[in-house]
Amino acid sequence: MIYEKMSQATKTMKSSMIRELVASTKNIEGLISFAGGFPSPKTFPREILSKLYHDVVLNEGETILQYGGSQGDSLLATELLKWEGYDDLSTDQILITAGATNAIFYMCAALLEPGDVILCEAPSFLGSLVGFEAMGAELHAIPLDQEGLDMDALGTKVEKLKKAGKRIKFIYTIPDFHNPTGVTMSLQRRKKLIEFALAMEIPILEDNPYAQLRYSGESLPSLFRVAHDEYSNTEIVTEVVTFSKILGPGMRLGYVKGSKVLIERMCSWQQKVNIAPDNVSQRVAARFLIEGHMQPHLESIRSFYQPYLEKMLKCMADYLPSYIQYSKPEGGIFTWLWLPEDMSADLLFEQAKAHKVTFIPGSKFYPVGQEKFNCLRLNFSYSSLEQIDQGMQSLGKLMEDFYT
Ligand SMILES: Cc1ncc(COP(=O)(O)O)c(C=O)c1O
Repeated sequence: MIYEKMSQATKTMKSSMIRELVASTKNIEGLISFAGGFPSPKTFPREILSKLYHDVVLNEGETILQYGGSQGDSLLATELLKWEGYDDLSTDQILITAGATNAIFYMCAALLEPGDVILCEAPSFLGSLVGFEAMGAELHAIPLDQEGLDMDALGTKVEKLKKAGKRIKFIYTIPDFHNPTGVTMSLQRRKKLIEFALAMEIPILEDNPYAQLRYSGESLPSLFRVAHDEYSNTEIVTEVVTFSKILGPGMRLGYVKGSKVLIERMCSWQQKVNIAPDNVSQRVAARFLIEGHMQPHLESIRSFYQPYLEKMLKCMADYLPSYIQYSKPEGGIFTWLWLPEDMSADLLFEQAKAHKVTFIPGSKFYPVGQEKFNCLRLNFSYSSLEQIDQGMQSLGKLMEDFYT
Protein backbone atom coordinates (compact mmCIF):
# COMPACT_ATOMS: atom_id res chain seq x y z
CA MET A 1 0.00 0.00 0.00
CA ILE A 2 2.69 2.43 0.99
CA TYR A 3 4.35 2.09 -2.43
CA GLU A 4 1.23 3.46 -4.10
CA LYS A 5 1.45 6.56 -1.91
CA MET A 6 4.97 7.35 -2.99
CA SER A 7 5.80 10.37 -5.13
CA GLN A 8 6.61 9.76 -8.79
CA ALA A 9 10.18 10.92 -8.16
CA THR A 10 10.58 8.32 -5.43
CA LYS A 11 9.02 5.53 -7.46
CA THR A 12 11.32 6.17 -10.39
CA MET A 13 14.44 6.91 -8.33
CA LYS A 14 17.46 4.86 -9.35
CA SER A 15 19.68 3.17 -6.82
CA SER A 16 23.40 3.44 -7.41
CA MET A 17 24.27 1.01 -10.21
CA ILE A 18 27.85 1.21 -9.04
CA ARG A 19 26.98 0.00 -5.56
CA GLU A 20 25.10 -2.90 -7.17
CA LEU A 21 28.01 -3.76 -9.44
CA VAL A 22 30.47 -3.66 -6.55
CA ALA A 23 28.08 -5.80 -4.47
CA SER A 24 27.95 -8.39 -7.29
CA THR A 25 31.70 -8.97 -6.84
CA LYS A 26 31.75 -8.95 -3.04
CA ASN A 27 32.13 -12.68 -2.47
CA ILE A 28 34.79 -13.33 -5.10
CA GLU A 29 37.81 -14.59 -3.25
CA GLY A 30 41.14 -13.03 -4.24
CA LEU A 31 39.40 -10.31 -6.26
CA ILE A 32 41.54 -7.36 -7.39
CA SER A 33 39.29 -4.34 -7.40
CA PHE A 34 39.80 -1.17 -9.41
CA ALA A 35 36.10 -0.46 -8.97
CA GLY A 36 35.65 1.50 -5.75
CA GLY A 37 35.92 5.22 -5.18
CA PHE A 38 36.81 5.16 -1.50
CA PRO A 39 39.90 6.92 -0.18
CA SER A 40 42.44 4.57 1.39
CA PRO A 41 41.68 4.13 5.11
CA LYS A 42 45.45 4.30 5.62
CA THR A 43 45.24 8.03 4.89
CA PHE A 44 42.80 8.83 7.71
CA PRO A 45 44.61 10.87 10.41
CA ARG A 46 43.23 8.67 13.16
CA GLU A 47 45.63 9.59 15.97
CA ILE A 48 45.16 13.34 15.63
CA LEU A 49 41.41 13.06 15.09
CA SER A 50 40.91 10.80 18.09
CA LYS A 51 42.70 13.30 20.34
CA LEU A 52 40.70 16.18 18.90
CA TYR A 53 37.34 14.39 19.22
CA HIS A 54 38.18 13.49 22.81
CA ASP A 55 39.24 17.02 23.66
CA VAL A 56 36.33 18.73 21.91
CA VAL A 57 33.70 16.52 23.56
CA LEU A 58 35.31 16.74 26.99
CA ASN A 59 36.19 20.41 27.08
CA GLU A 60 33.70 22.04 24.72
CA GLY A 61 30.93 19.45 24.95
CA GLU A 62 28.45 21.70 26.72
CA THR A 63 28.14 23.87 23.65
CA ILE A 64 29.37 21.54 20.92
CA LEU A 65 27.01 18.66 21.78
CA GLN A 66 24.16 21.16 21.60
CA TYR A 67 22.31 21.95 18.32
CA GLY A 68 24.50 24.03 16.08
CA GLY A 69 23.52 26.88 13.76
CA SER A 70 22.28 25.99 10.27
CA GLN A 71 25.07 28.04 8.67
CA GLY A 72 27.64 25.80 10.35
CA ASP A 73 30.33 26.45 12.94
CA SER A 74 31.49 30.04 12.44
CA LEU A 75 34.94 29.14 13.77
CA LEU A 76 35.30 26.50 11.04
CA ALA A 77 33.93 28.88 8.38
CA THR A 78 36.48 31.53 9.38
CA GLU A 79 39.31 28.98 9.38
CA LEU A 80 38.27 27.64 5.97
CA LEU A 81 38.30 31.10 4.42
CA LYS A 82 41.72 31.72 5.98
CA TRP A 83 43.04 28.35 4.78
CA GLU A 84 41.85 29.06 1.25
CA GLY A 85 43.21 32.62 1.41
CA TYR A 86 39.98 34.58 0.87
CA ASP A 87 40.40 37.55 3.21
CA ASP A 88 37.72 39.56 1.40
CA LEU A 89 34.94 36.96 1.70
CA SER A 90 32.59 36.97 4.67
CA THR A 91 31.32 33.89 6.46
CA ASP A 92 27.87 34.43 4.97
CA GLN A 93 29.35 33.34 1.64
CA ILE A 94 30.16 29.90 2.97
CA LEU A 95 27.86 27.16 4.18
CA ILE A 96 29.11 24.06 5.98
CA THR A 97 27.28 20.89 5.01
CA ALA A 98 27.22 17.16 5.63
CA GLY A 99 29.58 16.44 2.72
CA ALA A 100 29.47 17.56 -0.89
CA THR A 101 26.35 15.52 -1.53
CA ASN A 102 24.30 17.69 0.82
CA ALA A 103 25.67 20.90 -0.64
CA ILE A 104 24.79 19.73 -4.16
CA PHE A 105 21.30 18.81 -3.00
CA TYR A 106 20.78 22.28 -1.48
CA MET A 107 21.96 23.89 -4.71
CA CYS A 108 19.38 21.86 -6.63
CA ALA A 109 16.67 22.58 -4.07
CA ALA A 110 17.41 26.29 -4.30
CA LEU A 111 17.46 26.50 -8.11
CA LEU A 112 15.52 23.71 -9.77
CA GLU A 113 11.99 23.39 -11.03
CA PRO A 114 11.02 20.03 -12.64
CA GLY A 115 12.13 20.00 -16.27
CA ASP A 116 14.96 22.51 -15.78
CA VAL A 117 18.17 21.65 -17.60
CA ILE A 118 21.50 20.88 -15.98
CA LEU A 119 24.47 20.67 -18.31
CA CYS A 120 26.92 18.06 -17.09
CA GLU A 121 30.16 16.60 -18.30
CA ALA A 122 29.93 13.29 -20.09
CA PRO A 123 30.94 11.15 -18.30
CA SER A 124 30.34 12.50 -14.80
CA PHE A 125 30.00 11.51 -11.14
CA LEU A 126 27.07 9.10 -10.96
CA GLY A 127 26.03 10.19 -7.44
CA SER A 128 25.32 13.68 -8.70
CA LEU A 129 23.65 12.52 -11.92
CA VAL A 130 21.12 10.34 -10.10
CA GLY A 131 20.59 13.13 -7.56
CA PHE A 132 19.87 15.64 -10.35
CA GLU A 133 17.48 13.23 -12.02
CA ALA A 134 15.70 12.58 -8.73
CA MET A 135 15.19 16.34 -8.39
CA GLY A 136 13.42 16.38 -11.75
CA ALA A 137 16.22 17.90 -13.81
CA GLU A 138 16.74 17.16 -17.47
CA LEU A 139 20.41 16.29 -17.97
CA HIS A 140 22.31 17.20 -21.10
CA ALA A 141 25.78 15.74 -21.43
CA ILE A 142 28.73 17.70 -22.85
CA PRO A 143 31.79 15.69 -23.93
CA LEU A 144 35.20 16.13 -22.32
CA ASP A 145 38.57 16.26 -24.00
CA GLN A 146 42.06 16.24 -22.46
CA GLU A 147 41.58 19.87 -21.31
CA GLY A 148 38.14 19.47 -19.78
CA LEU A 149 34.69 20.48 -21.05
CA ASP A 150 34.49 20.74 -24.81
CA MET A 151 33.63 24.42 -25.23
CA ASP A 152 32.41 24.11 -28.82
CA ALA A 153 30.02 21.34 -27.86
CA LEU A 154 28.88 23.41 -24.88
CA GLY A 155 28.22 26.46 -27.08
CA THR A 156 26.26 24.44 -29.62
CA LYS A 157 24.21 22.71 -26.92
CA VAL A 158 23.34 25.96 -25.14
CA GLU A 159 22.27 27.59 -28.39
CA LYS A 160 20.05 24.62 -29.23
CA LEU A 161 18.48 24.46 -25.78
CA LYS A 162 17.83 28.19 -25.71
CA LYS A 163 16.18 27.99 -29.13
CA ALA A 164 13.98 25.21 -27.78
CA GLY A 165 12.95 27.49 -24.92
CA LYS A 166 14.59 25.36 -22.22
CA ARG A 167 15.59 26.82 -18.86
CA ILE A 168 19.24 26.04 -18.23
CA LYS A 169 19.89 26.27 -14.51
CA PHE A 170 23.58 25.47 -14.23
CA ILE A 171 26.65 23.73 -15.60
CA TYR A 172 27.94 20.96 -13.33
CA THR A 173 31.68 20.37 -13.56
CA ILE A 174 34.45 18.54 -11.71
CA PRO A 175 37.52 20.43 -12.95
CA ASP A 176 40.28 18.73 -10.94
CA PHE A 177 41.09 15.03 -11.31
CA HIS A 178 37.62 14.49 -12.55
CA ASN A 179 35.56 11.54 -11.39
CA PRO A 180 35.48 9.28 -13.41
CA THR A 181 38.08 10.30 -16.02
CA GLY A 182 40.95 11.78 -13.98
CA VAL A 183 41.09 14.71 -16.44
CA THR A 184 42.00 18.18 -15.11
CA MET A 185 40.62 21.26 -16.83
CA SER A 186 43.41 23.48 -18.20
CA LEU A 187 43.73 27.06 -16.98
CA GLN A 188 42.84 28.42 -20.38
CA ARG A 189 39.69 26.27 -20.47
CA ARG A 190 38.75 27.46 -16.98
CA LYS A 191 38.90 31.07 -18.15
CA LYS A 192 36.95 30.29 -21.32
CA LEU A 193 34.28 28.50 -19.33
CA ILE A 194 33.88 31.40 -16.92
CA GLU A 195 33.73 33.92 -19.75
CA PHE A 196 31.11 31.79 -21.49
CA ALA A 197 29.08 31.39 -18.30
CA LEU A 198 29.21 35.13 -17.62
CA ALA A 199 28.20 35.98 -21.18
CA MET A 200 25.32 33.46 -21.16
CA GLU A 201 24.37 34.07 -17.52
CA ILE A 202 24.54 30.37 -16.73
CA PRO A 203 25.81 29.61 -13.20
CA ILE A 204 28.50 26.97 -12.69
CA LEU A 205 28.40 24.35 -9.96
CA GLU A 206 32.03 23.38 -9.33
CA ASP A 207 32.40 20.07 -7.50
CA ASN A 208 35.93 19.98 -6.15
CA PRO A 209 36.75 16.97 -3.98
CA TYR A 210 40.13 16.08 -5.46
CA ALA A 211 42.11 19.32 -6.01
CA GLN A 212 44.24 18.72 -2.90
CA LEU A 213 45.23 15.27 -4.16
CA ARG A 214 47.86 16.46 -6.64
CA TYR A 215 51.00 14.31 -6.76
CA SER A 216 52.94 16.07 -9.53
CA GLY A 217 52.73 19.15 -11.77
CA GLU A 218 51.40 22.61 -10.97
CA SER A 219 48.24 23.22 -8.95
CA LEU A 220 45.57 25.14 -10.82
CA PRO A 221 43.22 27.72 -9.31
CA SER A 222 39.63 26.54 -8.84
CA LEU A 223 36.98 28.04 -11.10
CA PHE A 224 35.71 29.97 -8.08
CA ARG A 225 39.23 31.35 -7.55
CA VAL A 226 39.60 32.34 -11.22
CA ALA A 227 36.21 34.09 -11.21
CA HIS A 228 37.06 35.82 -7.93
CA ASP A 229 40.60 36.91 -8.86
CA GLU A 230 40.27 37.66 -12.56
CA TYR A 231 36.65 38.65 -12.98
CA SER A 232 35.92 40.02 -9.46
CA ASN A 233 32.91 37.73 -9.42
CA THR A 234 31.75 35.47 -6.58
CA GLU A 235 28.33 34.71 -8.03
CA ILE A 236 28.90 32.86 -11.27
CA VAL A 237 30.67 29.89 -9.63
CA THR A 238 29.38 28.00 -6.61
CA GLU A 239 32.20 25.79 -5.37
CA VAL A 240 31.63 22.66 -3.31
CA VAL A 241 34.56 21.17 -1.39
CA THR A 242 34.54 18.08 0.82
CA PHE A 243 36.74 16.66 3.56
CA SER A 244 35.74 13.16 2.43
CA LYS A 245 38.88 12.49 0.43
CA ILE A 246 41.31 14.25 2.77
CA LEU A 247 40.13 13.53 6.34
CA GLY A 248 37.57 10.74 5.98
CA PRO A 249 34.11 10.46 4.40
CA GLY A 250 32.68 9.15 7.68
CA MET A 251 32.96 12.66 9.14
CA ARG A 252 30.38 13.82 6.55
CA LEU A 253 31.85 17.27 6.26
CA GLY A 254 31.97 19.61 3.31
CA TYR A 255 31.34 23.25 2.48
CA VAL A 256 30.13 25.43 -0.31
CA LYS A 257 31.09 28.98 -1.29
CA GLY A 258 29.09 31.29 -3.47
CA SER A 259 26.99 34.40 -3.59
CA LYS A 260 25.47 35.58 -0.29
CA VAL A 261 21.93 35.33 -1.59
CA LEU A 262 22.32 31.75 -2.81
CA ILE A 263 24.18 30.62 0.32
CA GLU A 264 21.44 32.11 2.46
CA ARG A 265 18.78 30.13 0.57
CA MET A 266 20.84 26.95 0.68
CA CYS A 267 21.16 27.51 4.42
CA SER A 268 17.37 27.72 4.66
CA TRP A 269 17.21 24.32 3.01
CA GLN A 270 19.78 22.96 5.42
CA GLN A 271 17.63 24.18 8.29
CA LYS A 272 14.66 22.22 6.95
CA VAL A 273 16.49 19.06 5.94
CA ASN A 274 19.23 18.68 8.52
CA ILE A 275 18.99 21.51 11.09
CA ALA A 276 22.78 21.70 11.08
CA PRO A 277 25.77 19.58 10.14
CA ASP A 278 27.52 17.52 12.84
CA ASN A 279 28.76 20.04 15.36
CA VAL A 280 31.48 17.83 16.83
CA SER A 281 33.07 17.02 13.47
CA GLN A 282 32.94 20.68 12.51
CA ARG A 283 34.79 21.79 15.64
CA VAL A 284 37.30 18.95 15.22
CA ALA A 285 37.97 20.08 11.64
CA ALA A 286 38.34 23.69 12.83
CA ARG A 287 40.88 22.61 15.43
CA PHE A 288 42.66 20.45 12.84
CA LEU A 289 43.18 23.61 10.78
CA ILE A 290 43.98 25.93 13.72
CA GLU A 291 46.60 23.56 15.14
CA GLY A 292 48.33 23.39 11.76
CA HIS A 293 47.72 19.71 11.03
CA MET A 294 46.26 20.20 7.55
CA GLN A 295 49.39 21.00 5.57
CA PRO A 296 51.56 18.14 6.88
CA HIS A 297 48.61 15.78 6.61
CA LEU A 298 47.99 16.71 2.97
CA GLU A 299 51.68 16.23 2.20
CA SER A 300 51.56 12.80 3.80
CA ILE A 301 48.52 11.66 1.81
CA ARG A 302 50.02 12.98 -1.41
CA SER A 303 53.18 11.00 -0.85
CA PHE A 304 51.08 7.99 0.14
CA TYR A 305 49.07 8.01 -3.12
CA GLN A 306 51.82 9.03 -5.53
CA PRO A 307 53.40 5.53 -5.93
CA TYR A 308 49.95 4.08 -6.65
CA LEU A 309 49.36 6.52 -9.47
CA GLU A 310 52.87 5.94 -10.84
CA LYS A 311 52.35 2.20 -10.70
CA MET A 312 49.01 2.46 -12.49
CA LEU A 313 50.48 4.68 -15.21
CA LYS A 314 53.38 2.29 -15.73
CA CYS A 315 51.11 -0.76 -15.84
CA MET A 316 48.81 0.91 -18.36
CA ALA A 317 51.83 1.69 -20.55
CA ASP A 318 53.31 -1.81 -20.14
CA TYR A 319 50.26 -4.06 -20.30
CA LEU A 320 47.46 -2.43 -22.28
CA PRO A 321 47.22 -3.05 -26.03
CA SER A 322 48.44 -0.06 -28.05
CA TYR A 323 44.95 0.75 -29.33
CA ILE A 324 43.68 1.50 -25.81
CA GLN A 325 43.77 5.20 -24.94
CA TYR A 326 43.89 6.38 -21.38
CA SER A 327 44.05 9.54 -19.27
CA LYS A 328 47.32 10.33 -17.50
CA PRO A 329 46.26 12.19 -14.37
CA GLU A 330 48.67 13.95 -12.03
CA GLY A 331 46.49 13.29 -9.00
CA GLY A 332 43.13 12.12 -7.74
CA ILE A 333 42.24 8.45 -7.50
CA PHE A 334 40.99 7.50 -10.99
CA THR A 335 42.15 6.87 -14.54
CA TRP A 336 39.93 6.33 -17.56
CA LEU A 337 40.31 4.06 -20.57
CA TRP A 338 38.90 4.49 -24.06
CA LEU A 339 38.51 1.15 -25.82
CA PRO A 340 37.93 0.58 -29.54
CA GLU A 341 34.36 1.52 -30.56
CA ASP A 342 33.23 -2.12 -30.77
CA MET A 343 34.70 -3.24 -27.42
CA SER A 344 32.03 -3.07 -24.73
CA ALA A 345 33.34 -2.46 -21.23
CA ASP A 346 30.12 -3.95 -19.87
CA LEU A 347 31.01 -7.25 -21.59
CA LEU A 348 34.62 -6.94 -20.53
CA PHE A 349 33.44 -6.40 -16.95
CA GLU A 350 31.82 -9.87 -16.91
CA GLN A 351 34.94 -11.48 -18.36
CA ALA A 352 37.19 -9.63 -15.93
CA LYS A 353 35.00 -10.67 -13.01
CA ALA A 354 35.56 -14.30 -14.00
CA HIS A 355 39.31 -13.57 -13.88
CA LYS A 356 38.98 -11.90 -10.45
CA VAL A 357 39.50 -8.32 -11.59
CA THR A 358 36.91 -5.54 -11.48
CA PHE A 359 36.48 -1.97 -12.64
CA ILE A 360 33.45 0.18 -13.38
CA PRO A 361 32.18 0.11 -16.98
CA GLY A 362 32.09 3.68 -18.30
CA SER A 363 28.43 3.49 -19.34
CA LYS A 364 27.45 3.87 -15.68
CA PHE A 365 28.72 7.46 -15.65
CA TYR A 366 26.42 8.85 -18.34
CA PRO A 367 22.88 10.15 -18.11
CA VAL A 368 20.32 7.55 -19.18
CA GLY A 369 20.09 7.31 -22.97
CA GLN A 370 23.38 9.17 -23.53
CA GLU A 371 25.74 6.30 -22.62
CA LYS A 372 29.03 5.29 -24.23
CA PHE A 373 30.00 1.65 -23.80
CA ASN A 374 33.64 1.57 -24.96
CA CYS A 375 35.16 3.09 -21.84
CA LEU A 376 35.86 2.27 -18.22
CA ARG A 377 37.09 3.73 -14.93
CA LEU A 378 40.01 2.38 -12.94
CA ASN A 379 40.59 3.34 -9.32
CA PHE A 380 44.18 3.16 -8.08
CA SER A 381 43.80 4.11 -4.41
CA TYR A 382 42.53 0.82 -3.04
CA SER A 383 44.58 -2.13 -4.35
CA SER A 384 48.18 -2.80 -3.31
CA LEU A 385 51.03 -2.09 -5.75
CA GLU A 386 51.39 -5.84 -6.40
CA GLN A 387 47.66 -6.14 -7.03
CA ILE A 388 47.76 -3.22 -9.46
CA ASP A 389 50.51 -5.01 -11.39
CA GLN A 390 48.74 -8.34 -11.38
CA GLY A 391 45.26 -6.92 -12.10
CA MET A 392 46.47 -4.74 -14.97
CA GLN A 393 48.34 -7.68 -16.53
CA SER A 394 45.11 -9.71 -16.47
CA LEU A 395 43.10 -6.81 -17.86
CA GLY A 396 45.59 -6.21 -20.67
CA LYS A 397 45.47 -9.88 -21.58
CA LEU A 398 41.66 -9.93 -21.55
CA MET A 399 41.59 -6.95 -23.89
CA GLU A 400 44.03 -8.64 -26.25
CA ASP A 401 41.92 -11.79 -26.22
CA PHE A 402 38.61 -9.90 -26.51
CA TYR A 403 38.18 -10.45 -30.26
CA THR A 404 39.37 -14.08 -30.32
C1 LIG B 1 32.93 14.25 -7.80
C2 LIG B 1 32.39 13.87 -6.46
N1 LIG B 1 31.48 14.67 -5.87
C3 LIG B 1 30.96 14.38 -4.68
C4 LIG B 1 31.33 13.22 -4.00
C5 LIG B 1 30.67 12.92 -2.69
O1 LIG B 1 31.32 13.58 -1.66
P1 LIG B 1 30.81 13.59 -0.17
O2 LIG B 1 31.34 12.36 0.50
O3 LIG B 1 31.43 14.81 0.42
O4 LIG B 1 29.33 13.66 -0.15
C6 LIG B 1 32.27 12.36 -4.58
C7 LIG B 1 32.64 11.12 -3.89
O5 LIG B 1 33.16 10.19 -4.44
C8 LIG B 1 32.81 12.70 -5.83
O6 LIG B 1 33.71 11.92 -6.45
